[in-house]
Amino acid sequence: MPKVTFTYGGQTKTVEGKQGETLLQIGIDNGIPIEHACGGNGFCTTCLCKIKKGNDHLSARTEREENMGISDAQERLGCQAKLQNGDVEVDVIDI
Ligand code: FES
Repeated sequence: MPKVTFTYGGQTKTVEGKQGETLLQIGIDNGIPIEHACGGNGFCTTCLCKIKKGNDHLSARTEREENMGISDAQERLGCQAKLQNGDVEVDVIDI
């Protein structure tokens, strides 16, 4: 299974994720503190993540992300970015 390495609050944790799961879901399932004020629906940006490695192992940017102004190539909404077949390294952004 692909691995996701999360960096948050000065800590780093590597976990396994299933293909098709969002970064938010993988994080929540593994005790990573990712905010998700809108419940993972792409309307709040509190789940904002910076992708350090493996951007090409995530699903394409969604219309919701574009509507929320997430346009930096390295930034994704954790609730919208789905893991594909490969490892990813992610900084969880504190908002
Ligand atoms: S949880 Fe609100 S945009 Fe991702």
